[in-house]
Amino acid sequence: MAEYRPGLEGVPATRSNISFVDGQAGILEYRGIPIEELAAHSTFLETAYLLIFGKLPTQSELDNFDQAVRSHRRVKYRIRDMIKSFPESGHPMDALQTCVASLGMFYPVRESDPDYVFVTVTRLLAKLPTMVAMFHQMRQGNDPIPPDDSLDHAANFLYMLSGKKPDPWLARVFDTCLILHAEHTVNASTFALLVSASTLASPYSSLATAVGTLSGLLHGGANQEVMKLLRQIGSVENVRLFIEEKLARKERIMGMGHRVYKVKDPRATILQQIAEKLFERYGHDKYYDIALEVERVCAELLGPKGIYPNVDFYSGLVYAKLGIPEDLFTAVFAIARVAGWLAHWREQLADNRLFRPTQVYTGKRQQRYIPISERS
Ligand code: COA
Repeated sequence: MAEYRPGLEGVPATRSNISFVDGQAGILEYRGIPIEELAAHSTFLETAYLLIFGKLPTQSELDNFDQAVRSHRRVKYRIRDMIKSFPESGHPMDALQTCVASLGMFYPVRESDPDYVFVTVTRLLAKLPTMVAMFHQMRQGNDPIPPDDSLDHAANFLYMLSGKKPDPWLARVFDTCLILHAEHTVNASTFALLVSASTLASPYSSLATAVGTLSGLLHGGANQEVMKLLRQIGSVENVRLFIEEKLARKERIMGMGHRVYKVKDPRATILQQIAEKLFERYGHDKYYDIALEVERVCAELLGPKGIYPNVDFYSGLVYAKLGIPEDLFTAVFAIARVAGWLAHWREQLADNRLFRPTQVYTGKRQQRYIPISERS
């Protein structure tokens, strides 16, 4: 019998040529290109194209893709009405999962259409940001802010959230964050998507599965928790005692540790550089100092176990400075990760086999049915 590996740690679930991670060396590449190069030179939509279609687009391919995404930004009025009926206290990830699942009712799968993949991916890349911003506006009792077709992907999202056209430098910062979150091999949400896609469920259903999986605290939900942690700590002086007490209670430090990386996550390094530039330009943030001290203390206490900052550790600080509300952080992760999910959806369907793992049965066998009157 095959060896049981809890959490499927180290068990290959698929063959993929989308992204590569070396958790010991701290390397992440999308289609072979180091994440550092993409963060410095690419845009989110160009990176999404690279991930989904397997190559960097030519200028005309990129223009066409960008135009198609812009053209899909609006959502049906029935979706707007559905969002209006969501409780304002609901979590944005629950709202997003519901919205993504509902798309399947509006857009029937038409695999025979030669443009099916292109239309599906551009539609999903475009609509997730609109739905997140729409929920955010409507939970405050506001009308949604319609997308502005003159703005690029990142700037348009920030605009729909706040109603103000962002400083292009800030929009570029946000776009870089989207690149960093766009893809990360077969993590929990991507695996969930693969399982769903392998049943030939619709892309909307498969993506809704992934959104739900991303919402968990041990996955995408950690970025929101990091800000809570930094606020609870309150000052640099409190860091050591706070972390020591937390570890003594066997609690986890959010934003630290990764199933694959045993060194600092390369995305955390880039996000930290972004955070520094952001705070230099837009004012210092005391929570950044606290975060630095948490990193230092954790390197001492958890470093020997290979636990270092992951992508979620610095992203919250950047998002907060961009004016993004804390409970939207994970939904923002989702509007980036949709690129990787769609790339894996495509790859899965090109060589599909239904996922159907096995189990190690630990229960009883051959039990008798006991009538209820005889049970104690
Ligand atoms: N804080 C404190 N200890 C941690 C830790 C953390 N964030 N992450 C792992 N550990 C410890 C575990 O307690 C365990 O210690 P032990 O061997 O003494 O019992 C050891 O490290 C291994 O933990 P394990 O749960 O087997 O690792 P994993 O590969 O399943 O964990 C995560 C990966 C991401 C789930 C885990 O690091 C974690 O919970 N991190 C916090 C949540 C987070 O930031 N998630 C975002 C990931 S991008």
